Amino acid sequence: MARITAGVATSHVPAIGAALDSGKAGEPYWQPVFAGYERSKQWIAEEKPDVIILVYNDHASAFSLEMIPTFAIGCADSFAPADEGWGPRPVPTVKGHSSLAWHMAEQLILDEFDMTIVNKLDVDHGLTVPLSLMFGQPDEWPCQVIPLAVNVVQYPPPTGHRCYMLGKAIRRAVESYPEDLKVVVFGTGGMSHQLQGPRAGLINTAFDQAFLDTLISDPVAQSKVPHLDYVREAGSEGIELVMWLIMRGALDDQVKQVHRFYHVPASNTAVGHLILENAGS
Ligand code: DHB
Ligand code: FE
Repeated sequence: MARITAGVATSHVPAIGAALDSGKAGEPYWQPVFAGYERSKQWIAEEKPDVIILVYNDHASAFSLEMIPTFAIGCADSFAPADEGWGPRPVPTVKGHSSLAWHMAEQLILDEFDMTIVNKLDVDHGLTVPLSLMFGQPDEWPCQVIPLAVNVVQYPPPTGHRCYMLGKAIRRAVESYPEDLKVVVFGTGGMSHQLQGPRAGLINTAFDQAFLDTLISDPVAQSKVPHLDYVREAGSEGIELVMWLIMRGALDDQVKQVHRFYHVPASNTAVGHLILENAGS
């Protein structure tokens, strides 16, 4: 059967993708950010997942205010990098796993999570920057990816608790897929950041570090934190962090921390990153 062996959480700052794509990764500003992912690249090269379920948010690239799915699953065979205004990132096309994605859609909907099924989906920095951070700049992405998009742009986003429970349902769905597949779940976005208004530029390191601690050791407590706490403490875009709870819900209650990284600044955000393994893996 398919099984989830580990979870990865990471910020998805678009300027990180731009730095890589324009050959600036070695510059003094960016070098500490990429240094924090050296261990991660080694780890994932050894882990060799067959499929990544990549939880992210679209930033008005594939969806817009005309259509706002709360949870959408990409069931296509491939996903093109989106044009975000500066042209699509020069990264490989993302290969999907249509069969597992359709299985997940069916299982999740029958499990009372009403997913939106998406058969054509362009993927923006929310999805491609985490892949770049973990895999660098290959000619092809080394594994298949199932995009799972969450609305955290237009109020109301799903609650942290709903996200955590969706993670548990994803695990049930994956474990009922008969083929032997090694699956890693990515939760992306965050950490504290606010891109507009009088509080633009807000970063709250104490909140971010406490979030990382609690997400690892007491995810049930973290799942009960209301939206307002995220927005007040971590800024309007800090609400992206609820997506990390989907990844955490898909793992065991007790996990092994393989890697933890936190760095400020990167563009307008704090970069946070975790690799967590299921104890039994
Ligand atoms: C920035 C961060 C994001 O998560 C995003 O989606 C857009 C911009 C930033 O730091 O500038
Ligand atoms: Fe974002």
